[in-house]
Amino acid sequence: MTHYDINVRQGLPQDMQLLLRDYPRDAWPGHPNFARATQNWMRAHQMFRKLAEILEADTKGILDKQTDPERFAARLGHYGNQLIGNLHGHHGWEDHSFFPELQAADDRFERGLEMLESDHVEMDGLLDNLTRNANRYLKLSDLSPKDAENELPAILANTQAIGRFLTRHLADEEDLVVPIILHHKLRG
Ligand SMILES: [Fe+2]
Ligand SMILES: [Fe+2]
Repeated sequence: MTHYDINVRQGLPQDMQLLLRDYPRDAWPGHPNFARATQNWMRAHQMFRKLAEILEADTKGILDKQTDPERFAARLGHYGNQLIGNLHGHHGWEDHSFFPELQAADDRFERGLEMLESDHVEMDGLLDNLTRNANRYLKLSDLSPKDAENELPAILANTQAIGRFLTRHLADEEDLVVPIILHHKLRG
């Protein structure tokens, strides 16, 4: 395990902050190179954070008996599919198209981009865990609602792990990527 590991790092590693020092977060919104495409990309991140929050809050709600199981099942299917499907698409595009474009523009951040790609691999595992447990819950809620309930703590743990992961990954990704975009006037 290195200090690049998402489970131990406390923000973007120092050696990857070369441009972040010149382009701090506060300066992004007013920067002329902060293009619409970049703003949309950050809005997608915001949507992922929101979806993870909804799934976690819903699961807490049903564990506290605050939610009707049928309503929970419908929302779990809907928001779970949305989060998992959109994140897979987003990561695939970043790995295959976006990161190579950044790498071509500035080769000083290769290790940073590799770090983000290995985050994506780790995220796949977390999403698979949620998919497996949510599908089991949805199947059991038809067959045996009592047994379905037993799946809820695992689903809560999955949604919390995804939320923690997203908080770290998305912040570090933005801190690495946005300064490169602004500096090289990309995606404008
Ligand atoms: Fe990413
Ligand atoms: Fe991203």
